[in-house]
Amino acid sequence: MMNKDWCWWKHGVIYQVYPRSFYDSNGDGIGDIRGIIHKLDYIHSLGVDAIWLSPINTSPMYDFGYDIVDYRGIDPLFGTLKDFENLVEEAHERNIRIIMDMVLNHTSHLHSWFIESRMSRNNSKRDWYIWRDGKKDNPPNNWKSAFGGSAWEYDQKTGQYYLHSFLKEQPDVNWRNEELQSAMFNEMRYWLDKGVDGFRLDVVNWFVKDKHFRNNPPSLRPHQFLKIRYDRNRGSSHRIFRELRTMLDTYDDRMAVGEVFTMPPGDPKLSASYLGNGEDELHLAFDFSLMYRWWNASQVYKCIRNWYAQVPDKGWPCNVLSNHDQPRSISRFGGGPGAEKRASVAAVLLLTLHGTCFIYYGEEIGMKNVKIRRKDIVDPLGKKYWPLFGGRDPARTPMQWSDEPNAGFSNGKVWLPVSADFQRINVNTQDNDRYSILNVYRELISLRRKKNPLHKGMWKPRIKGKRGVLAYSRIYNDEEIFIVLNFTGKRKKISIHHHGQWKVIFSTHKFRNAHFVNLHMELAPHEATIVEKIGDL
Ligand code: GLC
Ligand code: CA
Repeated sequence: MMNKDWCWWKHGVIYQVYPRSFYDSNGDGIGDIRGIIHKLDYIHSLGVDAIWLSPINTSPMYDFGYDIVDYRGIDPLFGTLKDFENLVEEAHERNIRIIMDMVLNHTSHLHSWFIESRMSRNNSKRDWYIWRDGKKDNPPNNWKSAFGGSAWEYDQKTGQYYLHSFLKEQPDVNWRNEELQSAMFNEMRYWLDKGVDGFRLDVVNWFVKDKHFRNNPPSLRPHQFLKIRYDRNRGSSHRIFRELRTMLDTYDDRMAVGEVFTMPPGDPKLSASYLGNGEDELHLAFDFSLMYRWWNASQVYKCIRNWYAQVPDKGWPCNVLSNHDQPRSISRFGGGPGAEKRASVAAVLLLTLHGTCFIYYGEEIGMKNVKIRRKDIVDPLGKKYWPLFGGRDPARTPMQWSDEPNAGFSNGKVWLPVSADFQRINVNTQDNDRYSILNVYRELISLRRKKNPLHKGMWKPRIKGKRGVLAYSRIYNDEEIFIVLNFTGKRKKISIHHHGQWKVIFSTHKFRNAHFVNLHMELAPHEATIVEKIGDL
């Protein structure tokens, strides 16, 4: 019988792999599943509990896999079903779970369901997608695609418009249609039966749209515009997630984490709503508030506090600093000489917060955004909006394994340029350096696992960002761990009258004062230190 207290997806650390960029096993310049298998020992060496794979299903790749033509297929670029089964097996042997990315808000326009749906107005799959008549020569309403332009595309053949919240090659499915819902659930069951441990669900807050297709209010004031939107965030979507949870609960120990896609500054309340009462909808949901923040201790404090305040009592938060859609955290947190030091402070933050941690591949070695020249841009968003916005390629470049050509990622022509700094920033070099970001991550992950307060303790703020310092305790029964982060490039004195005998158990800097009474400390610039209470006075 499993210890109820121990729940892997609550206490674990999840590592996001962007398969195209992880490791190329066959020299075509694109990362693949055999490549991930090849690097499993590395992933194991980090001490993580699970891998979330960005989509690997069959896709024409208009949006790099977030447009799926066959949910049960593996795209030949990435390998075969056999390869995937091997990956699951090999990962499980190392106690690493596999989370698949399920893109269920839309399919590819080349999916057989959509091909049927667009054939005639009375096709049996017509209602699996969202078709509407136009208003005279205009689209049915004013909804915009997240990727720009109207969200409606006119289809000559049947004289109606279909909805696409993203690219026109990504038609939205109709979750109000029960047949569609059960078809989608079956696609998920297929993978659950194959032993997949869970799903990351793409844009869960877009599944259900307004029944009456009301216009979104005009965007006079941007933040107001975000509050009332008829094309997403509909309350009726919660039924779907309750049913999904019931389905997942028929399996043992599987989980679903939802991407709640919001614009800056993030919307913790909306994110938390997908957790239902904490036990009856998604296991986890992303709140992007932290991902939209710069390096500012009190801002970070407020994001965390607001997020925790929304998570239902029985629910569980998760925390993330970067992903494949956003600039890499280390770049967001500012460049210059402090950049790499800030990356270690950020690691301490992420790995000592309350809630499941997600790490984006490369974050653990401090990979930065890579400047992509116009001619090398492949992201459809970058192509469309350059030079205003260069797209998402900068955060998706090949993993930097070594100082060999192409950073040891591939011996072919790489699909996206490798960062120019790879000779310095790579796994091999950092492996041998006790104080590297990589080893900071490893040590923190292992500490988090060992210490009860760090993976299951409550979170209690102590210094709320004042003068660039954030400090908090993690408390579990009578065990307490105190974490202090200096966000600034200056020395900082802190003084908390919290009696007890304390011992430094981790620091980004050399341990000074390894034991002390009370929490009077002087922090070096960019120092993050973890202290454990070892006794009362
Ligand atoms: C999500 C994905 C993003 C994709 C979009 C449409 O936000 O993370 O990469 O482009 O959904 O599927
Ligand atoms: Ca390949």
